[in-house]
Amino acid sequence: MAAPPPDDGVDTGRPHPARVYDYFLGGSHHLPVDAEFGARIVALDPTAPYGARHNRWFMQRATRHLAGPAGMRQFLDVGSGIPTEPNLHRIAQGIAPEARVVYVDHDPIVRVHAAGLLDGTAAGATAFVAADARDPELILERAAEVLDFTRPVALSLIALTHFLDDDQGEGGGAHAVVARLTAALAPGSHLVLSQLAGDEDTAWVGEAVDRYTTSGSTLVPRSRAATERFFDGFTLLDPGLVQPPDWRPELGVGEVRDGTRVPLYAGVGRTA
Ligand SMILES: C[S@@+](CC[C@H](N)C(=O)[O-])C[C@H]1O[C@@H](n2cnc3c(N)ncnc32)[C@H](O)[C@@H]1O
Repeated sequence: MAAPPPDDGVDTGRPHPARVYDYFLGGSHHLPVDAEFGARIVALDPTAPYGARHNRWFMQRATRHLAGPAGMRQFLDVGSGIPTEPNLHRIAQGIAPEARVVYVDHDPIVRVHAAGLLDGTAAGATAFVAADARDPELILERAAEVLDFTRPVALSLIALTHFLDDDQGEGGGAHAVVARLTAALAPGSHLVLSQLAGDEDTAWVGEAVDRYTTSGSTLVPRSRAATERFFDGFTLLDPGLVQPPDWRPELGVGEVRDGTRVPLYAGVGRTA
């Protein structure tokens, strides 16, 4: 575990979702408080690390499709997380070196390690914006310094929306946040999203919600119908909203599967 430098705004006193996720993925940028919390979640659900890896593989397969056959050259990844190779820009620019990628996260630890997100190609561009998803206008303004919103953009909200409440005061809840981001997208844009499932037969989810809430974070599992509503205005690409391992598995590289259910909904939609 690498300790972040002092005075960087990182809250070392409680677990943070980005660092707990890094723990699940076997990364090195979490703190003891995150490892301890993550271990308690794994005690509830031993498949949590497997689910995190599959979520990551879903991102990789979706990006291969988008930068490949879908021809996308602009990517906006909100809730990007601590760098974990291969990051989105590595996949996109490996296919299209001219691809332009903007990462957004609100956790200071992601900013501390943002260099790992900024080593893109000279032909393309990579940028990191420290911002909260609940401030979509700020995100769009800063992203517009790198991306041309008159042209299609692939918006990734992968394992982000379950950290957003249904009701967040004036700004609205998770669905309003997503709607404000997607309203800025030109025709031909895409939305890539995964969300913790609330209607799977997984008793541990309620307990996990309690633990995240007690630790100071929001965790909101959602039904299939509520997750589909994030895609309003988009047509879901085949195979629709599925568990991450089931989204176009033929695009996978080096994945390990044991058939365990992953309680996440994952999908990719395209605007008209
Ligand atoms: C589970 S990680 C997912 C990382 C990456 N998208 C992936 O799927 O591999 C969730 C990320 O969302 C970020 N996040 C949570 N709430 C956020 C918010 N309100 N604004 C911006 N980022 C947020 C966390 O800091 C964390 O890095």
